[in-house]
Amino acid sequence: KKIKVFAPATIANVGPGYDIIGLALEGVGEYLEMELLDSDEIIIHPIPDYPDLPLSPDENIAGIVAKAMLNQLEVKLGLSIRIEKEVKPGSGLGSSGCTAAATAFAVNELMDNPFSTLELVAFAMLGEKATSGKAHADNVAAALMGGFCIIKSYHPLEILSIPFPKDVQIVVAHPQIEVKTADSKKILKKEMALPDVITQMGNIAALISGITTSNYNWIRSGMHDLIAEPIRSYLIPGFVQAKSLAIEVGALGCSISGSGPSIFAFCEDENQAQEVGDRWKKFYANLEIDSNIYLSKIN
Ligand code: HSE
Repeated sequence: KKIKVFAPATIANVGPGYDIIGLALEGVGEYLEMELLDSDEIIIHPIPDYPDLPLSPDENIAGIVAKAMLNQLEVKLGLSIRIEKEVKPGSGLGSSGCTAAATAFAVNELMDNPFSTLELVAFAMLGEKATSGKAHADNVAAALMGGFCIIKSYHPLEILSIPFPKDVQIVVAHPQIEVKTADSKKILKKEMALPDVITQMGNIAALISGITTSNYNWIRSGMHDLIAEPIRSYLIPGFVQAKSLAIEVGALGCSISGSGPSIFAFCEDENQAQEVGDRWKKFYANLEIDSNIYLSKIN
């Protein structure tokens, strides 16, 4: 038995939603092919273009997630896993989450669907824990469930999917510098003053209200973050200027994608998205940083 699945790249945090909001992108992600073997060995084949990623099932995200699922099912089966990555690890576009989500989905399919989607998210979170030291769910929930997801609670795990305005375009720039999620998690403050908490709650409320009612003014007013962006922007050369460029063009909001270095902007239409993408390309070229620009939508 064999299956090939695709997991979309994702944007986590989405402005003010540190660790609680994720969205899936259209057209970019990762393919994973999985085949059941008669032996009880998990074989992860070399990953094209990424010779440095570990292939041992105890270290590779796919191996970690698959083993946990097979253990829980108490089955002794082997798996052959082939991964094709379109999203670079350390890009802030949920690369590790893609592998974790694709693995959880594929194992479940090959085992005739013993697990619920929420359980698959929980298994995929084990991969995130192995990569970043923390089992955040925002990337893997979006990769597995698609669309726009809110992690309402981690204990117990509760996830909401909400509709996202169809016209909103998403521009992503991936400057070719690496930021490790584990490092960019460590630098965040552990506490927040109450006035900032109140501002942050207002922002999230405005963003979610704006998204559910397609009210662009509310999206604009909610796309501000006091938790991760002010600190992580120090790790991302040019972030402040790139954000200003997007806002000048009229974008609904701009922030860091996950733990960076990728950044994203919500745009009102394709022309605006194209304009933001063009300006970002030139901007990074001036900084002598190679960049990939993706014009996408919610998946
Ligand atoms: N919410 C996580 C973080 C996402 O910001 O650290 C990492 O991609």
